[in-house]
Amino acid sequence: MQQETPDPRDGIAFVGGRYMPLSEASVPILDRGFVRSDATYDVAHVWQGRIFRLDDHIERFFASMRGLRMSLPYDKAALTEILVECVRRSGLRDAYLQMTCTRGIPPRGTRDPRLCENRLYVFVQPFVWIANAEQQRQGLTMVVSSVARIPPDSVDPRIKNFHWLDLTMGIFEAYDRDALVAVLKGPDGTVTEGAGFNLFVVRDGRLATPESGVFEGMTRRTVLDFAGDLGLEIEVRPVLAEELAGADEVFITSTAGGIMPVTVVDGRILSNGRPGPVTGRVRDLYWARHDEGWRMTPIDYRD
Ligand SMILES: Cc1ncc(COP(=O)(O)O)c(C=O)c1O
Repeated sequence: MQQETPDPRDGIAFVGGRYMPLSEASVPILDRGFVRSDATYDVAHVWQGRIFRLDDHIERFFASMRGLRMSLPYDKAALTEILVECVRRSGLRDAYLQMTCTRGIPPRGTRDPRLCENRLYVFVQPFVWIANAEQQRQGLTMVVSSVARIPPDSVDPRIKNFHWLDLTMGIFEAYDRDALVAVLKGPDGTVTEGAGFNLFVVRDGRLATPESGVFEGMTRRTVLDFAGDLGLEIEVRPVLAEELAGADEVFITSTAGGIMPVTVVDGRILSNGRPGPVTGRVRDLYWARHDEGWRMTPIDYRD
C-alpha cells in the first residue's frame, strides 16, 4: 500500500537536529524528559503568519533552562532560525509553536543528571484554543479546585515545566462539576493559576492578578504592558478565592487563546452573566495589536 505523504500543515518538528513531519517525530523512551518530567519548555504563537513576542519567548526559555541547569548547543540566534524554519516549512499562518529542552538520556547504568546531554525538541502545529469561539462569546465556567497547586518551594512555577498532574486533576474536577476550567489555590490559600492560563479579577474598574506561585505568562505580561494604554490600574498581589465570587469580572490569559472571559465561578454567575466591558477592552486591544504587528516577527513563506 502506498503511504500518504504527510501534510506539512498538520505540523512540523525539529528533533535530533532534523526537520520532519510532526507525525514522524518521537522521543527516545529513556529521555528523562519523558520518564521523569525533567524538562522545560516554552510556547509562542503564530498569528496571521507572524510570531508574537518571539524574542521574549526565547529569552524566557533560556532563563528556564538556566534555572534547571540545562544548556543546548544552540544560541538564541540559532534557536530563532529553527523556530522560524519550522513555521515556514509548515506553511501554517495561525499556529502553536513549542520549544522543549529535556535533560536527555543518562549514560547506561547511571542516574547522574550532570552526565546527560540536554536535547532540543521543537514543533509547530495548528493553533490550539483553551476555549472555542462560542465558549468565549458566552464566557467560560470556572471552579476553584480542591486540588492544591504544587508548592512553589518544591517546583518553581516561573520555570515552565511538565509537572502538570495537579493542573490535570483540576481539569477533571472542572468537568465533573460542569465547568470548563479550574483555578488552583496555593499553600497560603490564595488563588494561583490553572492548566495553561493566568487569572485576573476586576472589581470597581481595578484589576488584580496573583503575584506569586504562578508562571509569569506572556499573555499576562502583555496585559500588564497594556495597562497604561487602557488607563487601567492593575495590582500584582495575592488574590483571595473569595474575591472571585465578589468580582465584577474575571478573565484568564493564555497563549492558547489570548484573553478569555469567565462568567461563572463555582456555579455563581458574575455580574449579569455576560463577558464584561473591561475584559472586552483588554481583549480587543490584544487582538488589535496583533493586527498592527506589535512585537511580531513576520515569516517569509517564500510562496
Ligand atoms: C501553568 C501555566 N500558567 C500560565 C500559562 C500562561 O502563559 P502564556 O500566557 O505564556 O501562555 C501557562 C501556559 O501554558 C501555563 O502552563
